[in-house]
Amino acid sequence: MKRDKIHLKAPGNWINDPNGFIYYKGRYHMFYQHFPCAPVWGTMHWGHAVSEDLIHWEHQGIALFPTKYEDQNGCFSGSAVECGGRMYLYYTGIRYRQADRENIHFCPDDRFEASQLMISSGDGIHFDNFRGKTVIIPVMGEGAPGDPAHTRDPKVWRGRDAWYMVLGTTTGDGRGRLLFYRSLNLRDWTYVNCVDGSRGFGDMWECPDYFETKGGQVLLFSPMRIMRDGKKDASQNICMLADFMEETCEMRLSDTYQFVDYGMDLYAAQTTEDAKGRRVMVGWMRMPEAVDGEWSGIFSIPRVVEVQDGHIYFRVHPNVDNLFCRRISSPAEADSAGYKVSLDMEDKESIGIGGYWIFRRGCHIFADRSNVFGRHTDYRLQFMTPELRGGCHLDIYVDRNLIEIFVNHGEYVLSNVVYGLDDGIQTDLAGGCEIYTVEA
Ligand code: FRU
Repeated sequence: MKRDKIHLKAPGNWINDPNGFIYYKGRYHMFYQHFPCAPVWGTMHWGHAVSEDLIHWEHQGIALFPTKYEDQNGCFSGSAVECGGRMYLYYTGIRYRQADRENIHFCPDDRFEASQLMISSGDGIHFDNFRGKTVIIPVMGEGAPGDPAHTRDPKVWRGRDAWYMVLGTTTGDGRGRLLFYRSLNLRDWTYVNCVDGSRGFGDMWECPDYFETKGGQVLLFSPMRIMRDGKKDASQNICMLADFMEETCEMRLSDTYQFVDYGMDLYAAQTTEDAKGRRVMVGWMRMPEAVDGEWSGIFSIPRVVEVQDGHIYFRVHPNVDNLFCRRISSPAEADSAGYKVSLDMEDKESIGIGGYWIFRRGCHIFADRSNVFGRHTDYRLQFMTPELRGGCHLDIYVDRNLIEIFVNHGEYVLSNVVYGLDDGIQTDLAGGCEIYTVEA
């Protein structure tokens, strides 16, 4: 069985979004959008991995694959809940009304339709793809609140007296929209309300995820075409404080938002509650090119979401933090799981990690991956955090193809996919830095 440590990645070929992330019967289950035939996006399956600690992942093979009329061209993203010991998965089934004749994995001009489906399992491992799937919300028809093609990514959660579902869709006139449904039995769903985004906030909202924390209620979602700088990946994952009323399914959204990650590679994040009740999030790090021509797509370090004084923090999950405890003097001594560099950065100081540059100017942290991103100049190469609230401590997690910078313990996070890092570290830091790797 294939295993991953810290960063879950495709066991081969392609992954995108995290799906069905849940702590179930004492283990974490992570499903993911998976095309098992080539390292590019194609007909979607749900791959599956299991972990006891959010660090060591064991791949379980494919959990969901197309079988039904409604999901014949793909099992798109969705979520999981547990009820009475059973695991329930919710996802979007895709049927192409016309396929590309040269590539049946693609559909020209968005000529496809989307339904919402459910499947359940008594052990979270076995799913009866042939007899176990139920269509719970059919394709949106005339007068329905969502788009027949672009309505997807059901996220289900338990409210006070009922189950709730949010779906992402579009208004059809250039704005994103959320649809809210309610159910008492997880099978029969009633549409209750929709909430529209304003103009300029992306025209279709993917992968919504709503949850409560001690410090406030949070909505994470991935608006398509929110960026207008002409660079690749115009779609970005954002988050904001929200106010959700269960009785009416009204949701008031804050006027301001944060990017979930300021490296602009993270997308389609999903959260769940961990074994200790923390809200833990994992996102898909998009890659412009398969590594060694073999696999594309890697997940972020699990991050704990907290709200304090109206700000949304994404902190390194303690299980990961605790693991990087073996002090080393150079990256060459690091375990294959990578290493962590910790430091305080004063104004005008910098650190170069294997060709990737991080520096501070005033109250912002900047990063530059120009030397370690190959020929991909149509992607963003330089990055910047918003203004920091005070102080500047960095914990930088370095893996072969991913650098994740946690600024001030999650005040902001800036993560980038990279190619061809070397083992060198160059610093211009009054206070120096410390390097850690995981226990051997
Ligand atoms: C986001 C997304 C989802 C969809 C899935 C398809 O990356 O486009 O909206 O369900 O990927 O793979």
